[in-house]
Amino acid sequence: MISETLRRAREYEKEFAAKVPKSQRPLFHMTAPVGWINDPNGFSEYKGYYHLFYQYHPYSTHWGPMHWGHVRTRDFIRWESLPAALAPDAEYDSDGCFSGSAITLPDGRQLLMYTSVTRVQVGEKSIDRQQQSIAVGDGLDYEKIEGNPVISTAMIPEGNSREDFRDPKIIQEKDKYYALIGSRPGDGSGEILLFESDDLKTWQYRTVVARCENEYGRMWECPDYFEFDGKQILIVSPQDMKGDGKEFHPGNGTVLFVGEKKEDLSFARESAQTLDFGMDFYAPQTIQTCDGRRVMIGWMQNWDTCNVGNEERMIYGQMTIPRELSINNGRVCQNPVRELENYHGKSFDYPNVEICTEKSFSGIRGRCLDLTVSLDLTENAGMNWFKIELCKDKAHSVTVKYDVSENTLRLDRSMSGGIRDIVNIREFEAPLCDNRLKLRIIMDRYSIELFAGNGEKSASMNVYTPLEAQEIVFSSDKRAVADICGAELVPDAIKD
Ligand code: FRU
Repeated sequence: MISETLRRAREYEKEFAAKVPKSQRPLFHMTAPVGWINDPNGFSEYKGYYHLFYQYHPYSTHWGPMHWGHVRTRDFIRWESLPAALAPDAEYDSDGCFSGSAITLPDGRQLLMYTSVTRVQVGEKSIDRQQQSIAVGDGLDYEKIEGNPVISTAMIPEGNSREDFRDPKIIQEKDKYYALIGSRPGDGSGEILLFESDDLKTWQYRTVVARCENEYGRMWECPDYFEFDGKQILIVSPQDMKGDGKEFHPGNGTVLFVGEKKEDLSFARESAQTLDFGMDFYAPQTIQTCDGRRVMIGWMQNWDTCNVGNEERMIYGQMTIPRELSINNGRVCQNPVRELENYHGKSFDYPNVEICTEKSFSGIRGRCLDLTVSLDLTENAGMNWFKIELCKDKAHSVTVKYDVSENTLRLDRSMSGGIRDIVNIREFEAPLCDNRLKLRIIMDRYSIELFAGNGEKSASMNVYTPLEAQEIVFSSDKRAVADICGAELVPDAIKD
């Protein structure tokens, strides 16, 4: 049975999706039919497709009462839009269906676990009551179960926040189900709690999986927890991080911990890294693909950079390109899914080209491109900097600049056409391999994703530069020799 609230959302998205000008959409990054999106939710494999749900407010380009939007894909590049899956239509989620995850049940149905939110009055204060609920469905329609909320406020351990309790990651181990949930203990920082169930309806609190102890931000949102290449990985999105050298930037961040899983499923952390060094990345989720890869997708936006230019468009927010993870020397690396290469159009290859004053190359222009540049720093000794300007015309450009003495990469979108003084510049240490700098840049109209080295570092940013700004220009302060290759990306023959 579809509620009136969900039916309305489905009709609305169907009517308005058709009205979004095609020029507002990227060509292969996932966007909503209409309106606002934030976190990826319920990223899962189900009946031959990869399903992705997402935080969704169809009715405006701002955050509002959260629905779950829904898409599916077979190859992570072409996304098929499905009707919205969840709406805030129950007494216990009337203020929003917040983030969560998905799992396939033994009877073949799919289960979604999400945070159900209601605003309640506690004395003088109005607070968000965040509890965990379940909906079960067939890949298209989902029904919220009778026993919701299955993990209620009453089950939060003594001393932890009654308000910040969200984003369940559901996992199955042997014959038990577990949910990892973001929480905030008395010290005000973040921690991840573990709940356990035999039948998905009755849950018990079991233990603390990991504690922040005020080291990595405060509230930890959107946990993901999985085994990878013999290690255990915990991903969290902490709020209010403090800057720490060139690894962690202040604000809402994403941290990946590598460590070990203990007997009781709790986590012993060994190392921590930032997941993405750009300005626009948050709340990622991962899946294990049918062929054994670990693929991650993130919200290509951040609470610190969103809400700029919302009024000028009918859709706001997009997901990153899905990325394959690998581990190299204890660091988790990311690279765009290999399926992207199936969408290579006209290619270009300029080995050993000389760069000095501004130089552009025939075939290397546009806003939808897979571009790789590499330079041997030993051969190029004497060069102080190397720069790539993207999305360029007389008035605009977005730059990726490498500084040799600092060994830093600097992204700068202050000339991209944005009119707000949000974070426009980011710097981070460049990963080098045999003293070689390698940069792979994926452009899709309004975004740039940079993968440096062998994917040791990635950086994502949105650029709302007019589509007419198409030039790509390379320069360096002294003569340099670089290898440049790549291809146009032609995911769909979308015509404007
Ligand atoms: C993270 C987050 C989640 C929450 C959702 C609400 O971006 O704040 O913690 O469930 O967004 O839309």
